[in-house]
Amino acid sequence: MKAECSKMSADEQPSYSLGKETLSVPVALFALNRQRLCEKLRKNAAVPKKSVVLLQGGDQMQRYCTDTDVIFRQESYFHWTFGVIESDCYGAVDVATGKSLLFVPKLPESYAVWMGKIHSREHFKRKYAVDEVHFTSDVAEVLKKLQPDVLLTLRGLNTDSGHITREASFDGISQFNVNNVLLHPEIAECRVLKTDMELELLRYTNRISSEAHKEVMKAVRVGMKEYELESLFQHYCYTRGGMRHTSYTCICGSGLNSSVLHYGHAGAPNDKTIQDGDMCLFDMGGEYYCYSSDITCSFPANGRFTPDQREIYQAVLRASRAVMSAVRPGVSWPDMHRLAERVQLEELVRIGILKGNVDEMMKVYLGAVFMPHGLGHLLGCDVHDVGGYPEGVERIDEPGLRSLRTTRHLLAGMVLTVEPGIYFIDHVLDQALADPAQACFINADVLARFRGFGGVRIEDDIVVTPTGMELLTCVPRTVEEIEAFMAQGSGSTSTKQFGQQTSQTA
Ligand code: GLY
Ligand code: MN
Ligand code: MN
Repeated sequence: MKAECSKMSADEQPSYSLGKETLSVPVALFALNRQRLCEKLRKNAAVPKKSVVLLQGGDQMQRYCTDTDVIFRQESYFHWTFGVIESDCYGAVDVATGKSLLFVPKLPESYAVWMGKIHSREHFKRKYAVDEVHFTSDVAEVLKKLQPDVLLTLRGLNTDSGHITREASFDGISQFNVNNVLLHPEIAECRVLKTDMELELLRYTNRISSEAHKEVMKAVRVGMKEYELESLFQHYCYTRGGMRHTSYTCICGSGLNSSVLHYGHAGAPNDKTIQDGDMCLFDMGGEYYCYSSDITCSFPANGRFTPDQREIYQAVLRASRAVMSAVRPGVSWPDMHRLAERVQLEELVRIGILKGNVDEMMKVYLGAVFMPHGLGHLLGCDVHDVGGYPEGVERIDEPGLRSLRTTRHLLAGMVLTVEPGIYFIDHVLDQALADPAQACFINADVLARFRGFGGVRIEDDIVVTPTGMELLTCVPRTVEEIEAFMAQGSGSTSTKQFGQQTSQTA
């Protein structure tokens, strides 16, 4: 059988896989997503009976004015609904009947020369198990035949980026009654709660990314460039997991860079040489079939924690464990953030960096001095997944909490990151020392010892279950596990397996 991305599995259910050991994902995942969306829209009294959802997929882009393609990655709402890997498509779903229509571009003959076989519409119908496939040039004509009272297009705010979704548009759309407000809240809410098939996919992205992190931890050596580990992570994810994309730009901070929250960008491209005594904070996640992972491992570059590194690491680990023990449906995410802050402040008192009453410290937001970001965020097709602030859920305009990408109460089926951290960021520390309300809690002489330390973040991905949570990430986490694991070094054959426990109930 000809190798291609989408194939028929033994039971003749179309699925996506890249062969070898990569996960086979049934495209039934998307049929179920469409079904859930239709059911939700039908329950909404404001949605006319004869509605048709219309989504526009992502465009193939080029580098600026050139003809060099940027590797295509599907737009996430379109992916969630149709699972289509090709660019420049549209998709429609008849809300009353659930009928699905895919529109693919009619490709020029030259495509067959430069890009490969031009597939028939029948091919795409089988590949994606949709009811009908048409050409994008016929969108208006085909939709007219459905005689919809309204086309539901997607317009809404991404509350992380501040960007608005691109609403579907085509020649002839003015002939239709279009509503662009009803769809967004409903489809975003569907994306928040993961189905079992989506969870299987997220277990896979976590498994492969966890293994890739472990490869990095075994390979890291003083004298290497940070980007060598970025490269190793990407190589493992792609070669073993079929992950062509990472979920976000790899953050491979060592030494002081481990306190730069989103290090690794173009201006700071993971290019420092790793030094003896450095902490490494490597935040990297592979993406498979447009589903993400987001994992941070923090460890000493030389494989042995100094006493100070051990103390800070264990403080963050205690916060992570406290949150994981408390997570269950109904708990408020800001409360989990406050819990992590409180544990970390208690630990900083124990270490001697802080002094005084933790309740009083919380009142002056001392937690945010050491953890300026939010505790975690929803995860799914996007690493910072949608649905964090639906109508009626407000951002809390207080230090630290204002960085939360959701302030929701947890529901079973949500997937989130738990990523507490302690960072020593000169700019933030100087501000705190200049503020008498915060400075009174700081032992400045002890704190001085931690200038240049960098930071520690421990980031895991979890699913909220009816009774607690399931841990998706599987990497060495305790100080002892990390030191033992790193001591084995590269090429070891007796690798003890850490993180075998895949489920944890609070
Ligand atoms: N990797 C980005 C984040 O942790 O949210
Ligand atoms: Mn991360
Ligand atoms: Mn994250």
